Amino acid sequence: MLKTTVKALACAVTIGLAGMATAAEPIVIKFSHVVAEHTPKGQGALMFKQLAEERLPGKVKVEVYPNSSLFGDGKEMEALLMNDVQIIAPSLAKFEHYSKAIQIFDLPFLFDDIDAVDRFQKGPVGQELLTTMEDKGITGLGYWHNGLKQLSANKSLLEPKDARGLKFRVQASAVLEEQFKAIRAVPRKMSFAEVYQGLQTGVVNGAENPYSNIYSQKMHEVQKYITESNHGLLDYMVITNTKFWNGLPEDVRTELRAIMDEVTVDVNKHANELNERDKQSILAAGKTEIQYLTPEQRQKWRDAMAPVWKKFEGEIGVERIKAAQEANQQ
Ligand code: LMR
Repeated sequence: MLKTTVKALACAVTIGLAGMATAAEPIVIKFSHVVAEHTPKGQGALMFKQLAEERLPGKVKVEVYPNSSLFGDGKEMEALLMNDVQIIAPSLAKFEHYSKAIQIFDLPFLFDDIDAVDRFQKGPVGQELLTTMEDKGITGLGYWHNGLKQLSANKSLLEPKDARGLKFRVQASAVLEEQFKAIRAVPRKMSFAEVYQGLQTGVVNGAENPYSNIYSQKMHEVQKYITESNHGLLDYMVITNTKFWNGLPEDVRTELRAIMDEVTVDVNKHANELNERDKQSILAAGKTEIQYLTPEQRQKWRDAMAPVWKKFEGEIGVERIKAAQEANQQ
């Protein structure tokens, strides 16, 4: 009798445990961003979701919110700190309140090409910058490329003087404000979700973005000219809430870290292609003229924007800037 009861009890416990295991809720990771899905960041977020749910079945559920649908610029950082969202990937221009050193990425004409950016980000200074917000509760998980920025306006911009007096939308970045002031243009901070309308209604006359953002936001429909200036960078830091990340079960954290590294390689390998594809689509749409600069014209933009470096070298650190310049030569 006693034997049967014990057996029945053991059985009930086993079922109970099994029930608990299957009923255990997966860890929900909200990944919010402000761009369209067919952009480098949009694709990266979807790949992260796919791999995480494939390799950690039942343990992790990733919800991706593109196009500022959960949190837009200005809100997403606070939301991450409140753990209302667990992963975001803001442009490197949006960190100035959390790390002055990260402003380095906004310095105009700092990097010759995306390969130099890649070398710098993978090098010791780039890796160190991922950790500069730990004391604020933010952990950097990696860098994702979008690409180099192009200037756009309703006016042909071949020399800095062409931009004089025009209002340009800028991201929330003091460096980018100074960049436009240096060419005697007027910077206007505006969240990404508002740019199309801002350009359409004339609140701003121009903007700066990689082709993938221009095309996916249809900015080319409201900008007559794009100058292929490659004057600055628009890349991302993928970040998480440090407390959330460190509180994950170790096996889950290790696997998510490996997945993030894999996604990072993939995003960075394909970002250029996506921008090139979108450039071709802009050309095919026939609404915008893409203009190219002669080496002399490009040098004029470079010279005009050069004073910005001096203004921020104290906050950024001269040694860091030197390391970035060295990445051009490797
Ligand atoms: C912008 O605001 O122009 C970009 O940071 C948007 C983005 O995330 O690519």
